[in-house]
Amino acid sequence: MATIRDVAKLAGVSVATISRYLNKSGYVNVETEQKIKKAIEALNYEPNAVARGLAGKKTNTIALILPDISNPFFPELARAVEDVASMYGYTVILCNSDDEGVKEKSYIEVLKKKYIDGIIFASNTLDSSDVEQMTKKGIPVVCLDRVPPKQSCSVVRSKNREGAKLAVEHLLDMGCRKIAHIYGPQEFITAKERLAGYEESVKHLDWYSPTFMIQGDFRIEGGIRATELLMERHPDVDAIFAGNDLMAVGALKALHRMGVQVPGQVAVCGFDGIGMTEITQPELTTVAQPIYEMGALVSRILIKKIEGTLEADQTYELDVALVPRESTLRRNGHESS
Ligand code: RIB
Repeated sequence: MATIRDVAKLAGVSVATISRYLNKSGYVNVETEQKIKKAIEALNYEPNAVARGLAGKKTNTIALILPDISNPFFPELARAVEDVASMYGYTVILCNSDDEGVKEKSYIEVLKKKYIDGIIFASNTLDSSDVEQMTKKGIPVVCLDRVPPKQSCSVVRSKNREGAKLAVEHLLDMGCRKIAHIYGPQEFITAKERLAGYEESVKHLDWYSPTFMIQGDFRIEGGIRATELLMERHPDVDAIFAGNDLMAVGALKALHRMGVQVPGQVAVCGFDGIGMTEITQPELTTVAQPIYEMGALVSRILIKKIEGTLEADQTYELDVALVPRESTLRRNGHESS
C-alpha cells in the first residue's frame, strides 16, 4: 500500500507539502496541487486516519466504554449512542471494561493513540481527576449512568431514588405488606441511590427491619441466590423489589423453583426496563429507565463538545417510569392464582 512518502517522491515535493495538502493546513500552489493529485491517483493512495489525527484533524470516531456488555441494559444504551453518532457522521468504538480500572486505563491509552475525538464513560472506576486529565489533554469526555458523582464534565443519568420509591408505592398499592429489596453492588451510585429510595419508602412502616434488604450483584445468578436467602430468612415476604431487571429475573426463577406463586404469594418488580422483562413468565413489572433517550442524549452532548458548540457542562437527570405487568398485578391485594 502506497505511503505518504511514495506520493511525495512521485510528485517531486516534500512529505510536509503532501501533509499540508491533505490536511488543508497551509498554502500549496496550484501547480503543486495538480502534481500531488496525479501522484495520489497513480498510486491509489489512501491517507491514514491516524496521520490525519496526527495533524490535529478529527478522525470522526468516538469511544463508548461500558462496564458489562453481558447485561442487556448496556447494548440497548450502545444502540442509541451509535444511532445518533452515525447520524452526525461519527463511528463508535465499543469497549467493555468489566468495571475494572486497570482495563479501562489501558483502553484510554489505546484510544489516545488512535486520536479518538471523544469518549463516553458508563463505568464506575473513573474519578474526577481522570476526567480533568483527559480534558486537559484535549479529549472531550461525557459520563453516563453509574459514574461517580461530581464530575468536571456533563453527566447523563436516571432518577434512581425516585424510581425506587415508584416501585415500593406500586407494591403497596397492590396490597403488598412486607416488601424486600435485593440491592446491587453498593460501589455503584445507581444501586446506592435505589437502596436509599427503598429505605426512605419503608423504614417508617411497622413491619420494616434491615433484614428485609439483601445484597445482589446486578446479575441473574445473584438474584437467584439473594431470593433463596431472603425467603429462608423471611418466608413472610410478599413482595420483592430488585435493584435491576436481571436480579428480578433471578428472583422469578428462584420463586418458581420453590413453588411460590408470582404475584399471588410474592410480587416481583425490577428496575431498568430491558426487553427481557416482556418475555419472562409472568411478564415482569419494572421501573423503566429511558435507556434509548440516555444514549441518544449523551451522544449528542459529546458531539457538540467535540465540535465546540456545547454551551456548558451539566448533569441531566432523566425521569423513569413504572411499567406494571403480571408479576405484581394482584387483584385488590388478595392472593390470586
Ligand atoms: O442492570 C445494570 C445496572 O447498572 C443498571 O441499572 C444501570 O443503571 C447500571 O447502573
